[in-house]
Amino acid sequence: MKSFFALPNDSTLKTLLVALLLCLVCSALISTAAVSLKPLQIANKDLDRKKNILEVTKLMQPGGDIAQLFKQIEPKIVNLATGEYVESIDPNQYDQRQAAKDPNQNLVIPPQRDLAKIKQRAKYATVYLVRQDNQIQYFVLPVHGYGLWSTLYGFLVLQGDANTVFGLQFYEHRETPGLGGEVDNPKWRKQWEGKLVYDPAGAPRIQLIKGSVGSNDPNKQFHVDGLSGATLTANGVTNMLQYWLGEDGFGPYLQKFKNKV
Ligand SMILES: Cc1cc2nc3c(=O)[nH]c(=O)nc-3n(C[C@H](O)[C@H](O)[C@H](O)COP(=O)(O)O)c2cc1C
Repeated sequence: MKSFFALPNDSTLKTLLVALLLCLVCSALISTAAVSLKPLQIANKDLDRKKNILEVTKLMQPGGDIAQLFKQIEPKIVNLATGEYVESIDPNQYDQRQAAKDPNQNLVIPPQRDLAKIKQRAKYATVYLVRQDNQIQYFVLPVHGYGLWSTLYGFLVLQGDANTVFGLQFYEHRETPGLGGEVDNPKWRKQWEGKLVYDPAGAPRIQLIKGSVGSNDPNKQFHVDGLSGATLTANGVTNMLQYWLGEDGFGPYLQKFKNKV
């Protein structure tokens, strides 16, 4: 040690050892910060998800306590293959995005059926219900699919008839601001309200079209304005909704409610 300090400051050995020591100290600091901040990160992500669900269901109040407001929302786990609820799993502990990566909990989607271009999905999904007078008022369905640059994650809200759109909101994507990023434009999002996702035969028909929906469009109830200069993101949104509303997505689950209203 003594001989180390005795070395001239510009010696190669001393320079290298000091640099190495600095690296070790910095990496220890970064690792400690990453590990200790992880629970906070998870809590913030959870809060953000709840905030998005409250926003898309219009239950968010400015300055409101998110945890308190979220008590109006009932999360449920759905087995997508059967459309049945899975009561054995606690929805507050279940992480659908994590499950999609776990070979024990996921399903690999054959390429010819992979409309949303997601390759795999969790077998079970979390749906969020809003009830009024014990009747389901809204179904909040998590949806995701590939746009042009990224996978878009969001929530589609259907009214109690399991067919009429109440809203669509994305909470994560990396599409270009001003192009694909216009999926976040409130004006564009507004026109989703009242659109129908299924035709009378039960097939998913909701679709973004190129350009604007004309007042004389015979299928205007299923059509939403495209995104100018961003047809690839728009197609991604159509495809993800078609997938998640179809028989490989929430189709079997929603089917159970369609004839009840
Ligand atoms: C830098 C850059 C970013 C772009 N970002 C997007 C995007 O986020 N989403 C998208 O659909 N198209 C994006 N485009 C345009 C696509 O390449 C493509 O031209 C467009 O989707 C075609 O849509 P249009 O027929 O409506 O013009 C981008 C193009 C460039 C040069």
